[in-house]
Amino acid sequence: MKSKIRKGIILAGGSGTRLYPLTAGITKQLLPVYDKPMIYYPLSTLMSLDMRDILIISTPSDLPQLATLLGDGSRIGINLCYAAQAEPHGIPQAFEIGADFIGGENVSLILGDNIFGGLDQIEAGLAGFDCGGMIFGHRVSNPSRYGVVEVDSAGKPISIEEKPDHPKSDFAVTGLYFYDPRVVQMTRSLKPSARGELEISDLNRVWLDEGELRLVRFDDRQVWFDVGTPESMLRAARYVASFADDGVLLGSIEITALRQGFIDRGQLQCLVDGMPTCRYKEQLVSVGINADS
Ligand code: TTP
Repeated sequence: MKSKIRKGIILAGGSGTRLYPLTAGITKQLLPVYDKPMIYYPLSTLMSLDMRDILIISTPSDLPQLATLLGDGSRIGINLCYAAQAEPHGIPQAFEIGADFIGGENVSLILGDNIFGGLDQIEAGLAGFDCGGMIFGHRVSNPSRYGVVEVDSAGKPISIEEKPDHPKSDFAVTGLYFYDPRVVQMTRSLKPSARGELEISDLNRVWLDEGELRLVRFDDRQVWFDVGTPESMLRAARYVASFADDGVLLGSIEITALRQGFIDRGQLQCLVDGMPTCRYKEQLVSVGINADS
């Protein structure tokens, strides 16, 4: 089935202050999560959702390195383009910067430090998406650190608050969002918050007030990491490593491209031939090229 959203944006800039000094010279999205750069994970999530037109937004100084890493995407059967966010003035800026890219189509935004384990519940959401906005809520033990969504007895969202002192639920809004093209206009109507940023919770509240925001509440099977601290980086790395031990390559953009039919085994072989001898290469051969199916 063709995806209802063809286009995705990865917001991969930010300041990364909580990861200092790791981030003193490089964006966190280029730091490793186990055996791959962090950005591989959100990129492979979008690819798994059948999105092949992808805009990567990052800081002016990090864009060249991201482009060196990923190129134009053609080797993995996708179209990648890049745009700079001069200053980290908030997540919704992605829709101003990406207005031409969006070009009147539905769009997904994923934050470059969000890692999702398991896709079923996201795919179910996407299948039910037509227009408006869609967000994904994950139960957390420390909701005050996130945007928090309150739901009524039918599970519909009724309020969203950014980092509330007294959260009305324990559902954090994760860094994956689906919107119809009106998101560009809606973003332009937002005012900066007290901390001088455009807030994603404010944007989602606009959709909510219009009665057009849908929430998918993840159940316990969904794994989600918001990789903003050393501890969460370590937890995410351990999670990825536990699968790698069983021959499952989470976040591999090459394997995702193969599974999605964006490339065939011959093209994967060419990619592998160009890689230096390393464990990742060996795993691509055994999981991708020599696999039975
Ligand atoms: P955050 O984790 O909220 O911010 P940060 O990455 O700057 O880190 P810290 O809070 O430790 O200083 O950002 C979430 C994601 O969104 C992350 O992948 C960076 C990205 N982002 C941008 O690219 N531009 C922005 O203006 C903001 C606010 C975030």
